[in-house]
Amino acid sequence: MADKGAFKREQWKSQLGFLMAAVGSAIGLGNIWRFSYMAYANGGGAFLIPYTVALFTAGIPLLLLEFALGHERIGSAPMAYAKASRNWEWLGWWAVVFVMFGIELYYTVIIAWCLDFFVLSFNLGWGPDPNTFFFKKFLGLSASPSHIGGIQTVIFVALIIIWLANWFIVYRGVSKGIELANKIFMPLLFILTAVLVFWAITLKGAGTGIKAYLTPDFSKLTNPKVWIDAYSQIFFTLSLGFGIMIAYASYLPKKAEITKNAYLTAFINCGYSIFAGFAVFSVLGFMAVTQGKPLGKVVSQSIGLAFVAYPKAVSLMPAGNFFGAIFFLCLVVAGLSSSVSILEAFVAAMVDKFGYARKKVVTITAILGFLGSIIFTTQAGLYWLDIVDHFLTHYGLVVVGILESVLVGWLFGTYILRDHINKVSSMKIGLWWDFLVKYFVPLVLGIILIGDIYHEVTKPYGGYSWAAVLGIGVDWVILTVLLAVIFATRPWQRDLNQVSRAETFGDEEWDRDEIT
Ligand code: ALA
Repeated sequence: MADKGAFKREQWKSQLGFLMAAVGSAIGLGNIWRFSYMAYANGGGAFLIPYTVALFTAGIPLLLLEFALGHERIGSAPMAYAKASRNWEWLGWWAVVFVMFGIELYYTVIIAWCLDFFVLSFNLGWGPDPNTFFFKKFLGLSASPSHIGGIQTVIFVALIIIWLANWFIVYRGVSKGIELANKIFMPLLFILTAVLVFWAITLKGAGTGIKAYLTPDFSKLTNPKVWIDAYSQIFFTLSLGFGIMIAYASYLPKKAEITKNAYLTAFINCGYSIFAGFAVFSVLGFMAVTQGKPLGKVVSQSIGLAFVAYPKAVSLMPAGNFFGAIFFLCLVVAGLSSSVSILEAFVAAMVDKFGYARKKVVTITAILGFLGSIIFTTQAGLYWLDIVDHFLTHYGLVVVGILESVLVGWLFGTYILRDHINKVSSMKIGLWWDFLVKYFVPLVLGIILIGDIYHEVTKPYGGYSWAAVLGIGVDWVILTVLLAVIFATRPWQRDLNQVSRAETFGDEEWDRDEIT
């Protein structure tokens, strides 16, 4: 049996601390790196329409669901699901397992690239040809996913630093580590981003880029891919289906503002993406004008937007090295505040179920995470990253989204969570929420999933070989499901029915900040 007191739940120090942590998790590489290339690939301004629709019809409803589930059931994802329905514990495990031992592994490597590029910015270390530098020298990209090659030392060293930072923050605990870090990171990120945007819009040609960003190309809206990308981007950006928001909400005290916090998290996150998009598109406009190319031809590969187009632009602009340093520092800060949340979601699950000492779990998980990340620092790393990202975001996050709305909508009962939300929050939600969770979200995500599977079986993803797609992508998904089932079938080190809020929270006082 676990130590007595091992299950004592930590708490956020303040409501603002929780909000900062939730926003910190949401705002990540996804907001700058992923959002910009999605918007670029899907017709600039046109993308903002499906993006907004996805936010209101799936993003906010599921964020409310995850906050409410974690808060009402008081537990990390596996515990919250188990307390909703014992047969669904595996779903909570699956979310935290594939996110920690999938998404987190390459996510930390991308942060490591950003850290390297931050350093390189100061003397424009990528030289006159950032494209060749990034793919050939920095990544040392091999011929195919099966040609693993060697580890890229520069990436490996940065990765050690990133994992140490993750470990340090989560090791210090919920309020002294994660909350404190986010209270520093978020204001820093907002200031740096504002500097970047105001600098970028003064560049020559910025207007051309901004015009492309804000002019919707309505013809794009008939393409289902634009909608699929918008819904999956909303999932990724709001950290939905990651198990994070459930765990974070479980650290809230009894009386907490669920609705306001969900709206604020969603609006700050998406507002941030749209705001940062001005910097990205201004820079694209600058590149187009400086190089005399049409805007659509400035970037050849989606991933190259941050690591090829930006360095190129930075080299061309006055005092560009500072611009580059700020840009990559933003990515590092945004990335770290998300990667710690992923680590926390898994740690919380292990502590909840097995009652292990939290610090030990953090250390062991961080070591395993670091070791797992190494594959993405090899010369085939980019291929692996691309394949694993595709399969886990498309078949992990979306499937968790469908299943959690089915579980809450059809088995557990939306009214339980709606009543709970309305009891604790000053802003009430109506039956529209039940409708979206029960019918709309599973239907839309279901259609997206079927469309995805159809594309998947017609030809191998991304032009890779079937062996690579099956061996890396599909196997990764299957292995994480197996691991989840193993965790779920282990016995609980506590009686789930006995866990009351009084037991988990003790009688600690909580200082409540009002958020208006
Ligand atoms: N929500 C995080 C991001 O957007 C994972 O990067």
